[in-house]
Amino acid sequence: MSGALNGLPLKPCLVWDARQVTVWLDPPLVGERVVVRQPAVGDEAGLVEMATDERVRRFLGGAADPVAAAAKASARVAGGVWGQFVVVHRGSGDLIGSGDLARKRGPWEVSYQLRHRYWGRGLAAEAVALVRGWFFAHTEHDLLIATTQQANDRSRRLLERLGAVNVGAFEQYGLVQQRYEFYRS
Ligand SMILES: CC(C)(COP(=O)(O)OP(=O)(O)OC[C@H]1O[C@@H](n2cnc3c(N)ncnc32)[C@H](O)[C@@H]1OP(=O)(O)O)[C@@H](O)C(=O)NCCC(=O)NCCS
Repeated sequence: MSGALNGLPLKPCLVWDARQVTVWLDPPLVGERVVVRQPAVGDEAGLVEMATDERVRRFLGGAADPVAAAAKASARVAGGVWGQFVVVHRGSGDLIGSGDLARKRGPWEVSYQLRHRYWGRGLAAEAVALVRGWFFAHTEHDLLIATTQQANDRSRRLLERLGAVNVGAFEQYGLVQQRYEFYRS
């Protein structure tokens, strides 16, 4: 299966996960104000902006070097990695965020970030809700987690607004992190 959105080709992107092969975000997820789709050529500038912005990277290990960020953006838009997504603003067509679904510590985990100028509008919450809905609709898993630094108030508010359950704290990189869980409803 493959498709396109606004002329951007989507690559078939499969994950093997014990019992199933699931095609990743094909078609893209269309919300009221955002579209969530696979990364594609043309997304590089927005990805580099996020990676090099101290405000965006404050709780994610700090801003990246621009050259390293550009290389990572090029690899990301080359596509083919199950779980990687970008968020596009439906009104303007701008790339406004990115994230992924990955198994960093066992269960599937969602991560997300928005370009700083798009914070505070409810757009990240809309995107994460779309990804969560897709995950439970297209996989057989009953659990999706998110982890965030305890100090990351914005991220914690987002997760709590979406109904994620805070199941406790743990330490990583010498910092207190909170683990949240979404369950299949
Ligand atoms: C975490 C992050 C994505 C949250 O972004 P955000 O824009 O604050 O999150 P939301 O989409 O939930 O927006 C909620 C805010 O929009 C406001 N808002 C304005 N209009 C809104 C609308 N129409 N609908 C919903 N909320 C709206 C809400 O009141 C809320 O503001 P508040 O938190 O000050 O009360 C963003 O801060 C970020 O990219 N941080 C850097 C990366 C990061 O730390 N990621 C988390 C770890 S994976």
